[in-house]
Amino acid sequence: MEKKNLRFYIIKLINILYKIYKLFYYKKKIINLRKKILNYNYKYHVLNNSNILDYQYDKLLSKLEKLENLYPYLKNKYSPTKLVGSRYKSLIFFKKSYHKIPMLSLNNVFNKNDLFKNFFFPINKLINKLNFCCELKFDGIAINLLYKNGILISAATRGDGIIGENILKNVLKIKSIPYMLKGKNFPKILEIRGEIFITKKKFIKLNQQKFGKYKLFSNTRSATYGILKINKDINEKIFNLLNFYSYGIGFIDQIRFVNQQEILTKLEYFGIPICKYTKIYSSYYKIINFYKYFKKNRNLLPYNIDGIVIKINNIKKQKILGYTNHAPKWAIAYKFPSQEKLTLLKKIIFQIGRTGVITPIAYFNTVNINGVNINFATLYNINEIKRLNLKIGDHIVIQRCGDVIPKITNVIINKQFLKKRINILIPTLCPSCNSILKKTVNNILYCKSGLSCKDQLKAYLKHFVSRDAININFIGKKLINKLVDKNLIKNVIDLLNLNNNILSKIDNLGNKSINKILQSLKNKQKVTFNKFLFSLGIPEIGIVTCYHISLFFTTLEKFLNTNLVELRSIKNIGKKTSLNIFNFINKKDNIIIIKNLLKKIKIIYPKNIFKKNYFYQKKITITGKFIFITRSNLIKKLIILGAIIHTYIRKKTDLLILGTHPSSKLLKATKLNIKIINENKVLSLFQKYK
Ligand code: IVH
Repeated sequence: MEKKNLRFYIIKLINILYKIYKLFYYKKKIINLRKKILNYNYKYHVLNNSNILDYQYDKLLSKLEKLENLYPYLKNKYSPTKLVGSRYKSLIFFKKSYHKIPMLSLNNVFNKNDLFKNFFFPINKLINKLNFCCELKFDGIAINLLYKNGILISAATRGDGIIGENILKNVLKIKSIPYMLKGKNFPKILEIRGEIFITKKKFIKLNQQKFGKYKLFSNTRSATYGILKINKDINEKIFNLLNFYSYGIGFIDQIRFVNQQEILTKLEYFGIPICKYTKIYSSYYKIINFYKYFKKNRNLLPYNIDGIVIKINNIKKQKILGYTNHAPKWAIAYKFPSQEKLTLLKKIIFQIGRTGVITPIAYFNTVNINGVNINFATLYNINEIKRLNLKIGDHIVIQRCGDVIPKITNVIINKQFLKKRINILIPTLCPSCNSILKKTVNNILYCKSGLSCKDQLKAYLKHFVSRDAININFIGKKLINKLVDKNLIKNVIDLLNLNNNILSKIDNLGNKSINKILQSLKNKQKVTFNKFLFSLGIPEIGIVTCYHISLFFTTLEKFLNTNLVELRSIKNIGKKTSLNIFNFINKKDNIIIIKNLLKKIKIIYPKNIFKKNYFYQKKITITGKFIFITRSNLIKKLIILGAIIHTYIRKKTDLLILGTHPSSKLLKATKLNIKIINENKVLSLFQKYK
């Protein structure tokens, strides 16, 4: 009997051991298969050089799928079986994506004088002996590629610089963007920044009706954007039209670089396409020659560029110079002059902005510059009319400044047409509300009636519903104009209180549209703090400033009780901005509006605004392995709470987070008497700040 029992247990044990063996065996097999497939993907999509036939590839994929189904606990969301495209299966499509580090813009100059005045001279006062990295300025769409453990997990457009749209689904289909990084020792988390664009040849091909309804884009940039935003299953070949070059990085862990050139070289090593024309120069003369060369020969390049970008090569020196609100001080875009066209001035309309400032808008016969049709340009203020001695009927020169904003640069006086010129009358009364216009010392005309002036109200309401503010769908420019013109709404509160009764007074607005509008208003009960601040329309306060304010003040109440000194201490807020904010929050009418808004809208204070936490501004290093949290998640959470993560222990380090199997960092931290906490403590602190 006993012998029988023993035999039974031995067989059971052998069975269990066999199962464990099988599990390890298949785990290894699954991992190897994934690696193999990802490698084929890389060759196929990046090198454009597949060394496996489609049916063989599909066989490998289905083998992996079978094994993953057999051992579901070995499934992984980054497995090639979960990916998109002809060689990718299901879809990954996240709507919004926070950039780990904001995506800033670049300051522009258009001539040598400004280049020296705005860039070289100010820098030279602080630092001398510099090397500059000179790159081409690609004319496409900026993209932020997030690689986790070498795998592309998100691809976000620039958006407002803080949050972009995740278009990973489409980006995965662009051959030159690798799904998997090549080489060894890539960082666990890496944001790669660059530009997606379409070559000139492919642009022509696109417009030659080769892709059904995706044709006739007016320029390469809009074509790139149009393709990237496709959100339905169409001929995937359209994505083969897109190319990519990287020009830098955003967030990175583990690796530190000495200069921009080193970053680009490393990116190339990882299999990321970079442009071969980048050059390092230390002399201004050579930089100007680089610019001149590409200005002359840009037509020979297969893609459009709109200038060059000059960057300080050394990263430490970049850090010394730092950033303005929207751009680095260590880089500048030196743009090519744009094309000019001659046309006829038809009329001037005086437009009233949301703060009452009157801007003259010139309307002229349509011209096409660099593929874009243009029929109006703003004149900034009435000085501009006088400076140009502008009259209706004039022959005017239009330039697309920086290839974006159209500008009247010149008036061609032709004796033959002199008699036909008609004087432009500068208004003394507001064209909207007839109140007497005022003038600032700088000759800027403005209407001081505030929101009782219908045009100002319309402009403010458009700002209020816009994407960066409260973001209310289905309430557009036309509807706002009609509602205000018919006296159906007098302020934002009326807009939030719109109902069936009021909306049915608008012509051509069916029940379906009314329901959509009402539903969209109903959905908008919660808004993040930064967007709420932006929606208030404080003069000259942009979205980035609102973001900084939202990070500084934990509540709206604190913001409303602030003072000028405190405002000046906020990152990127200068004298003028702080004064604008201070004046705004000290106006009784504004406070009444805010109070009424709060009856309808709840402000969400994002978690990362919560500053007084244990980790905030602490310099933290991490060592070892963690059981309940992945290292990358740990870092992410710490960053959200405002921690500064350092790879190595230094004298200045505030804290070491200790996992199992620590490295020599532990010894160093003990020697330097640095505070050490373990995983449990970190997790309990995270719980506290949840
Ligand atoms: S660097 C922090 N380098 O230009 C500054 N930008 O006008 C990061 N662009 O949004 C930009 N070529 O999308 C950089 N070689 C280049 C570029 C480049 C094109 C785009 C980029 C940026 C825009 C700013």
